[in-house]
Amino acid sequence: MSSNICRSKGNFTYKNIEDLENDIKKLNLDIKISSNFELFKKKLVIDNHIIPNALATHPMEGGDSDEYGSPTELTYRKYEKIARGGAGLIWLEAVSVTKEGRSNDRQLWITEDNWKAFRKLNDLIKKSAKEEFGEAFQPKTIIQLNHSGRYCKANGERNPIIATHKKILDDKIGISQEHPIVTDEYLDSIILKFVEAARLSKKAGFDGIDIKACHGYLLSELLSAYNRDGKYGGSFENRTKLMLDIIEKIKEDKDCEDLLLSSRLNIYDAVPYPDGWGVSKTGGLDIDLEEPKKLIKLLAQKGVRLISITMGNPYFIPHINKPYDIGGYIPEEEVILSCNRLIKGIGEIQKSIPQVNIVGVGYSWFREFASYVGAGSLEKGLCRIVGFGRESIAYPEFARDILENGEMKSNKVCVSCSKCSEMKAKIGTCGCVVRDSKVYVPIYQDMKNREVNKSEQGCCS
Ligand SMILES: Cc1cc2nc3c(=O)[nH]c(=O)nc-3n(C[C@H](O)[C@H](O)[C@H](O)COP(=O)(O)O)c2cc1C
Ligand code: SF4
Repeated sequence: MSSNICRSKGNFTYKNIEDLENDIKKLNLDIKISSNFELFKKKLVIDNHIIPNALATHPMEGGDSDEYGSPTELTYRKYEKIARGGAGLIWLEAVSVTKEGRSNDRQLWITEDNWKAFRKLNDLIKKSAKEEFGEAFQPKTIIQLNHSGRYCKANGERNPIIATHKKILDDKIGISQEHPIVTDEYLDSIILKFVEAARLSKKAGFDGIDIKACHGYLLSELLSAYNRDGKYGGSFENRTKLMLDIIEKIKEDKDCEDLLLSSRLNIYDAVPYPDGWGVSKTGGLDIDLEEPKKLIKLLAQKGVRLISITMGNPYFIPHINKPYDIGGYIPEEEVILSCNRLIKGIGEIQKSIPQVNIVGVGYSWFREFASYVGAGSLEKGLCRIVGFGRESIAYPEFARDILENGEMKSNKVCVSCSKCSEMKAKIGTCGCVVRDSKVYVPIYQDMKNREVNKSEQGCCS
């Protein structure tokens, strides 16, 4: 790695956009820079849906539901702030489609008993956006439907539901090789769960649903279930079958009519073959987009015209999907290279499959310069919408500042400190500890105190 670049590992030291541009040139990266922020004002029309600008908030699981999966005051508060921020596409966090599929006891879960609470959440988003930006402003809302698969938890304990053994991932979270894999009948039953959740989402007023297939959760795991027997494992057709069947059923369901069909999809797991998807079959971690492209074309044929692309597995190599400065470990590679991987790979998909509209990721780490990088991606056709994950909880009004003032403020941006991720991993409930400190520092501190108490008890016993 060049020692002449402007920043050292783990410390963001760009003082201006020229420093960043110099590094991009020196390192010969695919990241593009543009100051044409007018590009963010472009509407995107998909079927009957108009996304009013080219900025999105990515799903950010807050682990703040009640025990039945309904939103709580903390959930409403987060989405009200996001809605008042001005992004044209608000992509809600992972919402479970079954009780056992929850990632923790406080993950949102939509059911026949609580869909009205989700309607209240969607109404709040729409109403808040209108209050801020006028009657005509209608951001589109997508709800992310998920089954957490191997990362399920129940009663505070891991409760892995796996479709196939993947030793490298099993070992990471202590799944024994004797742990049972789910039957084809169980996977068949999941189809109806997704359809029911989609129907409820439609009743609740969401504009679209996301059939989540990323980050190693159940549908994502199946994409690389090379070693599973039966109809959901082995061939490409079998590994993608469950996801495509779910989409098909939702598409033909009368109660789901007009829903914007979308997916948050991994194109690269960064897990070696045969345990990873989008990875070279010749060994190592090289990217191979042949199968992801084939799947995206099939999804497009089935009417999925909006896809949010991502990479990696946060439980395995976290910096692949969210490039950071401070975290559980400091990655060997420069952070900008992790961002480049995302932006370049997503660009390749957008360019080669123009019939789908791609939401890009990989921008929050660029802090106040992210708007230049995002505009560069739009200008060069690397995606049609620029999405922000951590930024959306650190700086919910980022879109307003870009669209109205042509800048992101350095004192408001996410500093990629990974504290939200640490909270998500340890207690489920999370938010921005740095920029929303009044609410989240006490929760973070309480988590830390409990860790200290636990280790002290451990010493004495
Ligand atoms: C605390 C936390 C929660 C997240 N929850 C979700 C989620 O519910 N669904 C999802 O697809 N991605 C989730 N992500 C990933 C983000 O959507 C996003 O892909 C990632 O943070 C990288 O984007 P960024 O660099 O803009 O933050 C989460 C990330 C973090 C840090
Ligand atoms: S806690 Fe806040 S500043 Fe730190 S990574 Fe998360 S969103 Fe960014």
